[in-house]
Amino acid sequence: MFRSRIIGTGSSVPARVLTNKDLETLVDTSNEWIMTRTGIQERHIAADGECTSTFAYRAALNALEMAGTAPEELDMIIVGTISPDMPMPSVACFVQHRLKASRAAAFDLSAGCTGFLYALTVGDSFIRAGMHKKILVIGAETLSRFTDYQDRTTCVLFGDGAGAVVLSAEQGERGILSTHLYADGAYTDYLLISGGGSMTPASHDSIESRQHFIKMDGNKVFKIAVKSLEEAALTALEKNNLTGADINLLISHQANLRIIDAIAKRLNLHPEKVFLNIERYGNTSSASIPIALDEANRQHRMKKNDIILLDAFGAGLTWGAALIRW
Ligand code: UT7
Repeated sequence: MFRSRIIGTGSSVPARVLTNKDLETLVDTSNEWIMTRTGIQERHIAADGECTSTFAYRAALNALEMAGTAPEELDMIIVGTISPDMPMPSVACFVQHRLKASRAAAFDLSAGCTGFLYALTVGDSFIRAGMHKKILVIGAETLSRFTDYQDRTTCVLFGDGAGAVVLSAEQGERGILSTHLYADGAYTDYLLISGGGSMTPASHDSIESRQHFIKMDGNKVFKIAVKSLEEAALTALEKNNLTGADINLLISHQANLRIIDAIAKRLNLHPEKVFLNIERYGNTSSASIPIALDEANRQHRMKKNDIILLDAFGAGLTWGAALIRW
């Protein structure tokens, strides 16, 4: 039986930094409010000419280099994103071309901020089924292009960037143990970009009413997130006959420090076992887990056979968890 092992990680963020102080000049907010309510200090924002495939490609190169994998070896490229370069073709096809990964099938997957966990699960399934040997899974976003810098309830939250992992089919106990995905479409209204799709195509009206920007009922999302993430994490542990005490590192979607703290508390995790980089990147949606995974990896925070818990929550609403034996 094959398992998917992560043999390389990579990430990339734009050079430009937007600080809480900068935001104070744009909307009625304060560094103190943003820090205490979210844990975010600054976020990286794309420059003109940069877009989601820019960061996805750079993250992919870093991950492939660490993995010692040539692009031609890739069987598949999956990009989790809600901010593609354009409605079609996919970001994955732009990346495939730039990498010259000519053998790889390529497609995007939309699952809100849970996009990376959904993409990881799809990649893992192809490997477990014995169909593929090497898959590149990317989470990449340029949410700044969909952020309303007149709306203080959302503009302080989001940042841009990408993270990537190379999955390899390997024998043995190390690798992805299980993934658990959920959705509840009853809550589509809580977090959405309503304009620009087939329901509300771009028009003067849609632009004037700012429908091409993210709208979120943050407080409602917050409450559902804490409950759902706890359930997903406990299900993942139970499925593998593990408990919170077995977790060596929690790498959570970096949406809000208070959400991550609440999950860590419910799993009884010491702060040292919780990876955080929200203060530097904000919420990068699908990119947040693979960026964090790459940073943790490069900081040697994971040892061979460590148990790593990933969890994420986002638009849909969608959520999920994954357990990895590193
Ligand atoms: O990644 C996808 C999933 N998304 C999430 O997981 C996000 C989940 N939600 C959150 O992280 C939090 O709900 C937020 C950080 C978005 C908001 O924090 P909150 O503690 O839920 O605040 P709130 O929305 O209940 O707002 C509290 C107050 C309000 O003022 P009043 O009505 O009490 O007078 C807001 O208008 O804070 C006000 N407020 C702000 N004040 C200063 C909202 N945004 C700001 C701001 N600066 N940027």
